[in-house]
Amino acid sequence: MTTTRIWEGDKEWDIYEAAKALQQGKLVAFPTETVYGLGANAYHEEAVLKVFQAKKRPQDNPLIVHIASEKDLDDLVEKPLPPFVQLLIEKFWPGPLTLVLKIKKCTSLVSAVTGGQNTVAVRMPSHPIALALLSAAKIPVAAPSANLSGRPSPTNCLHVLSDLQGRIDGIVDGGETCGIGLESTVLDCSSEQLSILRPGAVTAEQIEAVIHMPVSVFSSSATRNRNDVQVPRAPGMKYRHYAPKAPLDLVKGDVEQLSKKVGEWKQQGKKVGLLAVREFGAQITSADVFIACGENNCLSSYARELYRALRAFDDSPTTVDVIVVQAVEETGIGIAIMNRLSKAASSGFYMATNDSNEHSLH
Ligand code: TXA
Ligand code: MG
Repeated sequence: MTTTRIWEGDKEWDIYEAAKALQQGKLVAFPTETVYGLGANAYHEEAVLKVFQAKKRPQDNPLIVHIASEKDLDDLVEKPLPPFVQLLIEKFWPGPLTLVLKIKKCTSLVSAVTGGQNTVAVRMPSHPIALALLSAAKIPVAAPSANLSGRPSPTNCLHVLSDLQGRIDGIVDGGETCGIGLESTVLDCSSEQLSILRPGAVTAEQIEAVIHMPVSVFSSSATRNRNDVQVPRAPGMKYRHYAPKAPLDLVKGDVEQLSKKVGEWKQQGKKVGLLAVREFGAQITSADVFIACGENNCLSSYARELYRALRAFDDSPTTVDVIVVQAVEETGIGIAIMNRLSKAASSGFYMATNDSNEHSLH
């Protein structure tokens, strides 16, 4: 057991100490605008291996390298960068867009960061605490989300503590909940065919509008009709993710359809959880546990609160057998929301549709 320290993100001295700890090969969780990351010095082999152990993460799942300045790319990726990558950097960095680029031939990066692949995923976060920490550390920082593998990503300091207390050296507390709430968009720029390996706040349309090149989207949802890539090339996408202990029943439709679905499960004698926008809580009173997630017609609030809401079912004193979850429209960040929800729902559960009467718990 390690003692996990808490540093305060608004104190300069605390940032300095956390940065020193990172340099020395310690594991430090920190807030970003998407979710909390679990940082390790990307040049320090032991530190990088400790990240996989602390998270119980499979070693074939590579990590994103976080940087504070474009200059930091010099030791990481093949130069010169293609002009479209330069455009993306100018437009979206710092921010929630991760670029998968060809790795530099003689980089000092520890090979476990990339799982020995010839590409590296890089991102410059926009959260002021993340940028301050990375600038002070003066090293590239490999940082997966700061959760135990398979749990929803953490969007506040308490979530990190609940998964990793005693397993990591410290956490920089960012105070407020992470603004976006879902992990960054991962864009594979390493081949001619640009593709989004993981949808996030930056959408394919936004990217296409900047570079005027087509971008395909890998999507786990059957309802997407862009030219979807069938095989997930971000190794992380094949693992069970984002899921609370109870199975999810993802339901498309309005308050009546959600209410009907809750009723059907109740009739089967199940204890039912409901995850839906705040306004629906007052209208659907039959669920055993209601956890509010965002406001009606505001996808960004649903995204911001989703992981907190999923975690809340595991923390609730009432254990539910199934969680009925409100599906959202697949536009903008709704694509990323539905990607995470579909993955959570498909791990051990039949995803019911509105017009289907088939239900089974696996
Ligand atoms: O918003 C985020 O991206 C957060 C914060 C902390 O920055 N980080 C994050 O990291 O979500 P992680 O490790 O949980 O997810 C990284 C994803 C995985 O799906 C992984 O397979 C993929 O990026 N990835 C990393 N390196 C890759 C590479 N070289 N090629 C393809 N996919 C890669
Ligand atoms: Mg993760």
